[in-house]
Amino acid sequence: MLKTDGALLASRATRVLLAAERVLVTTGAGMSRESGIPTFRDALTGLWARYDPEELATEAGFRRHPARVFGWYAWRRRLVRAAVPHAGYHALVALERLVPSLAIVTQNVDGLHRRAGSRRVLELHGSLERFSCVDARHPFPGDAIPLPEADTECEPPHCPQCGSRVRPDVVWFHETLPERVTTEAWDLAASCQAMLVVGTSGLVHPAAQLPFIARDAGAMVIEVNPDPTEVSTAAHIVCRGPAGTILPALVAALREGEGEGARA
Ligand code: APR
Repeated sequence: MLKTDGALLASRATRVLLAAERVLVTTGAGMSRESGIPTFRDALTGLWARYDPEELATEAGFRRHPARVFGWYAWRRRLVRAAVPHAGYHALVALERLVPSLAIVTQNVDGLHRRAGSRRVLELHGSLERFSCVDARHPFPGDAIPLPEADTECEPPHCPQCGSRVRPDVVWFHETLPERVTTEAWDLAASCQAMLVVGTSGLVHPAAQLPFIARDAGAMVIEVNPDPTEVSTAAHIVCRGPAGTILPALVAALREGEGEGARA
C-alpha cells in the first residue's frame, strides 16, 4: 500500500482504471453519507434510538413488533426519497461510459445508484423500495404503501395471497443474501482487473470478502474512504477522502488520460 500525497495516488488510481477492461465498484453506507442518508447505525436516532438493531433488523423483531419495524423502514424510505445523489454518484455514471465494462455492487438499500443513472447495479442487501410478505415472500407493490409524514410506528399491510404481513425486501441480520445477485457479485469480483471500494467499513460479511477475492484474483484494489477500514489492508491504493470529492477527481483525471489516448 502506497501512502504518498493525494495527487500521486489519484494518478496511480487513474492509470489502474485506464488499464482495466473490467472494473467493479463496491459501495457501502459511506457512499450515501454526503446525500444526507444516515448509515445503518446513524439511523438509530430519535424515536428509534432506544431500540437495539436486532430489534429493528431481524425477522424475529418484525414478528414481535411489526408496526415498530415497518415504521422504521418507512421513515428511512421517506428520508431516501428526499435525498439527491451527490457528485460521486454522477462520477460513477460517467465512469461507466469511460471503461469497457463496469458494474456496481452495493450494500446500500437506498437505490441512489440507479436514481443517479448507473445501469448495472447489484443490490446485495435488497432495497427499501421493494416489499414482500414475511411467510412466503410474495412480492407486494411498493406504491401501495404510503409514506408516513412523521417517524412513527405504522401497521404493515397483509399479503393478498397468504395473509401474512408485508415486510421490506431488505436483508436482515441472520438472513442469507439473494442468491442470484451474490453469485454474480462474486464472479465479478473474481474476474475484474480493478476494484473501487467506496464508503464501507468492511465489517459486514459476506460483502466484506469482495475486495479480498478481487485482490487474490490479481485485481488492483483502490479504497476511497476518509478513514482506515478493514479493507485498507487489501488495498493497493488508498484515497483518503469523501466519495463526493475523490470520485469526480478520479473521473476528471481519467478523461484527461483518455484525451491523451493513454488507454492501454
Ligand atoms: N465518503 C466515503 N466513505 C465515507 C464517507 C464519505 N463521505 N463518510 C463515511 N465514510 C465511511 C466510514 O469511514 C466507514 O468506513 O463509510 C463507512 C461506513 O461504514 P458502516 O456504517 O459500517 O457501513 P457499511 O460498511 O456499508 O456497513 C453497513 O451493514 O448494517 C448493515 O446492511 C447494513 O449495508 C449495511 C451495512
